[in-house]
Amino acid sequence: MANVIVIGAQWGDEGKGKITDLLSSSADVVVRSQGGVNAGHTVVVAGQTFKLHLIPSGILYPDTECIIGSGTVIDPEVVIEEMEQLKKLGVTIDNLYISQTAHITMPYHRSIDRASEERRGDYKIGTTGRGIGPTYADKSERTGVRVLDLMDSKLLPEKLEWTINYKNVILEKLYNLPPLDPKEVIKEYLKYAEYLRPYVIDSSLKIYEAVKKKKNILFEGAQGTLLDLDHGTYPYVTSSNPIAGGACVGSGVGPTIIDRVIGVAKAYTTRVGEGPFPTELTEEIGQLLGDRGAEFGTTTGRSRRCGWFDAVIGRYAVRINGLDCLAITKLDVLDTLEEIKVCVAYEIDGETCYHFPSNASHFANCKPVYKTLPGWQQPTTECRTLEDLPQQALDYLKFLAELMEVPIAIISLGASRDQTIIVEDPIHGPKRALLDADGSPVNEG
Ligand code: GDP
Ligand code: IMO
Ligand code: MG
Repeated sequence: MANVIVIGAQWGDEGKGKITDLLSSSADVVVRSQGGVNAGHTVVVAGQTFKLHLIPSGILYPDTECIIGSGTVIDPEVVIEEMEQLKKLGVTIDNLYISQTAHITMPYHRSIDRASEERRGDYKIGTTGRGIGPTYADKSERTGVRVLDLMDSKLLPEKLEWTINYKNVILEKLYNLPPLDPKEVIKEYLKYAEYLRPYVIDSSLKIYEAVKKKKNILFEGAQGTLLDLDHGTYPYVTSSNPIAGGACVGSGVGPTIIDRVIGVAKAYTTRVGEGPFPTELTEEIGQLLGDRGAEFGTTTGRSRRCGWFDAVIGRYAVRINGLDCLAITKLDVLDTLEEIKVCVAYEIDGETCYHFPSNASHFANCKPVYKTLPGWQQPTTECRTLEDLPQQALDYLKFLAELMEVPIAIISLGASRDQTIIVEDPIHGPKRALLDADGSPVNEG
């Protein structure tokens, strides 16, 4: 029995969807606690691909309760489409619940997100254009619309009329955009409200009741550590807290109920959008990683920037999230390489630096210090145990575990559920990390 947080240890798209789906077989409840439809989590089961934006990746298990938590922001149009899509594919959503205190993304949020990005020009963030920043900004400014408001069909028209008229000033005067017709938006959102009403609950209470019954709860992070509003590569971040601490805030649970935190990291690094990326590879090898890893954004279809594994940000993710262990994904993408580099430190102004610098301009000037390891140049997609892995692949993983100072609990070698090596079952199993913190194999006795 355990309550587990799964977070992204890099810049998002680490494979959280695959790992959450995998662990959901042992979970009673799966909670998404932050982010919105900027996320794109892919789950591949029996050759069928599911792309989830806001619905937790546990949804494919009909007996697992899936909760869209209070720290998320909900674009009703996209979520309803996602729900309908799942139903069409034969997936039940009777086990889906939506927090009444989550915030709603409105059409003006999307328009302002896109228009402000255009206005920023060279300083743009490269957002997903899904209205995430403006929705969270309104939440902080206290002009947000919550699920509770959406459910109040008497008060909603009044609230939206005022808010839309207020936002129209910004749309028209600041961005030269046409104003929204409050009547039309109200009509549309009242329709969404009726569709969503049966799913709306007091999510914190539901989770607390599950805790009291000693159920297994999985908290599925969206985005990644380096996209965290407070601890990421600000300002090139998202507007929520994807780190482990954010899971408690965004679900309405206390930190004392959490048993474990698993960090998901690719065996290399990717990033979508703007912002510094020290190990980025812009030429042949970057292209090869992008092609072999099919590195295109699940939400926007944009090409992801690719680079070598960066153990400095990895160690930072261990620190900021209090990681217990790692799930390393997409090891198979490296299968053809003759040599593989790992960034072990940065050089800044002639000084070697082992820690992530929070100063954005320092980070932008970091030069990676690499250690080169031999590749294995053979396929790993069929490996199912550590013994099946080529020695060089095992050495590579041991090196990562050593640098990150945490054990590797899961190794992923393909998008499907079965293309996985569970080194240490992070939910039920005895503590038997085969790759210890110092990188040496643990003697299982
Ligand atoms: P998330 O946002 O963290 O859930 O990750 P995404 O779903 O956006 O991106 C990960 C992509 O890699 C998806 O297309 C997955 O199907 C795929 N994937 C996950 N694990 C592996 C793996 O071990 N090997 C390969 N080749 N693909 C994987
Ligand atoms: P998952 O959950 C990768 C990035 C955007 C942009 C920045 C801000 O699939 O890992 P936003 O629209 O959030 O205001 O954009 O954050 N970003 C992601 N990158 N994976 C994601 O989610 C992301 N969600 C947002 O590309 O750089
Ligand atoms: Mg993704």
